[in-house]
Amino acid sequence: MTEAHDTVQQQELAQVGVIGMAVMGSNLARNMARNGYRTAVWNRTGSKTDAMIAAHGHEGAFVPSQDLADFVASLERPRRIVIMVQAGRGTDATIDALIPLLEAGDIVVDGGNAHYEDTRRREKKLRELGFHFVGAGISGGEVGALEGPSIMPGGSPESYAALGPILESISAKVDGEPCCTYIGTDGAGHFVKMVHNGIEYADMQFIGEAYEMLKAAGFSAAEAADVFATWNTGDLDSYLIEITSEVLRQVDARTGQPLVDVVVDAAGMKGTGTWTVQAALNLGVGVNAIAEAVFARATSSDAELRKAAQGALSGPDGKVAIDDSDPINREHFVNDIRDALWSAKVVAYAQGLDLIRYAAQEYGWQIDIAEVAKIWRAGCIIRAKLLERIRSEYAANNLVTLLEAPSIKAELARTQDAWRRVVAGAVRSGVPVPGFASALSYYDQARAPRVNAALTQGLRDYFGAHTYRRIDMPGSFHTLWSTDRTEVEDVDSH
Ligand code: ATR
Repeated sequence: MTEAHDTVQQQELAQVGVIGMAVMGSNLARNMARNGYRTAVWNRTGSKTDAMIAAHGHEGAFVPSQDLADFVASLERPRRIVIMVQAGRGTDATIDALIPLLEAGDIVVDGGNAHYEDTRRREKKLRELGFHFVGAGISGGEVGALEGPSIMPGGSPESYAALGPILESISAKVDGEPCCTYIGTDGAGHFVKMVHNGIEYADMQFIGEAYEMLKAAGFSAAEAADVFATWNTGDLDSYLIEITSEVLRQVDARTGQPLVDVVVDAAGMKGTGTWTVQAALNLGVGVNAIAEAVFARATSSDAELRKAAQGALSGPDGKVAIDDSDPINREHFVNDIRDALWSAKVVAYAQGLDLIRYAAQEYGWQIDIAEVAKIWRAGCIIRAKLLERIRSEYAANNLVTLLEAPSIKAELARTQDAWRRVVAGAVRSGVPVPGFASALSYYDQARAPRVNAALTQGLRDYFGAHTYRRIDMPGSFHTLWSTDRTEVEDVDSH
């Protein structure tokens, strides 16, 4: 072949390929093509590829294939193949079908919501075969995939060098900066995406609790929508607060009622919140606010339990009395809830970022938390004004916890009184606020000079001879509880 012919061949090859033409996959492929990348596409069921090309083929340069081998052959090398199929078995089946078709150095990306342990397993398998495997967390839903998501890729630094420019160009931007950065090796990207989702669960739970409090004080859905819209102009400015006001304002066409009043109050979940809490349990990291959000969804969906308890359990009627005669009271009440919401949100972020810090130690990932906050500022579901502050605090300080960041701790010092009033008021009135309350308990536990763990250690030593450490000397000790109750040093611990 002549050099010229080679060049022509090269020009016709696709720069990137997407497997899976369901909603997320086709939107991501369209995003790539719209950004000027020649994009190969393939779907197990060929009619979906045809339908996507028929509807959107004019948006950019697509190279559709009906056969997986043709798809692979249509890509320039090293190949960059993004898998966007049903997570789990679909991903494994696709990888297995691809393996015989790949060549050394090719890069396979899983853009689905995979569990990070699956990503670690797949990365190891492909690495041993001479390929790169990148687990890329992608957040932003359907619209984000098309218009610019937040992307969290994990894998070899080498693969990021080849893949990064494409992912960065299709990602959301803040002041021209991409919401995509290299996260770390193997499962790091999917771990960070999982924690993003855990924080999202907490954010939504807190928003729900804030609405419950407003409702308990007699606010209509439309009035609450106004409150959220106002909050969205301040420190709480975020996508979720913005869409909360839209959902609350929605009127059901069938009944004329606020839509929120006709929706069944049983929250669904797809599992990433649960994974976050499971990972935290395995790593021994306290993420109680995130866990409460997952448990609250579970309890909401336990119709049998709720039915049994509604008939059996007594308590306050869930109404909060505010003196409406003076509009100032109403304003104070609303501001208190805003402060509780902001404070709890900060705790959930602190817990999620703490979980990332521990996982990084455990798995040997070099994760830059400031960069994580940076790429969450746009494109993803938890995008919020607060994330710029978190980014700058982590960039400027060596933080153990977000809660100690100078501007955060100062703001918490201001908001904590209101936060306590909201939790106390909710508890007195029988309004469930597991998120606000658990976040506040974490805050108080973290700042307390002594916590009740000393008594726990005493009890553990009493029934199980588990020993304890003393505050005034090194070593481990055991009290002879069943004899003369003198203390002995546990020499084995040395
Ligand atoms: P959505 O984006 O709509 O949530 P999904 O359920 O996550 O979609 O994934 C559906 C995609 O995974 C489809 O492209 C599907 O291919 P088909 O159109 O042929 O059903 C793809 N998919 C699921 N299992 C697969 C498998 N074992 N091998 C290849 N592709 C598979």
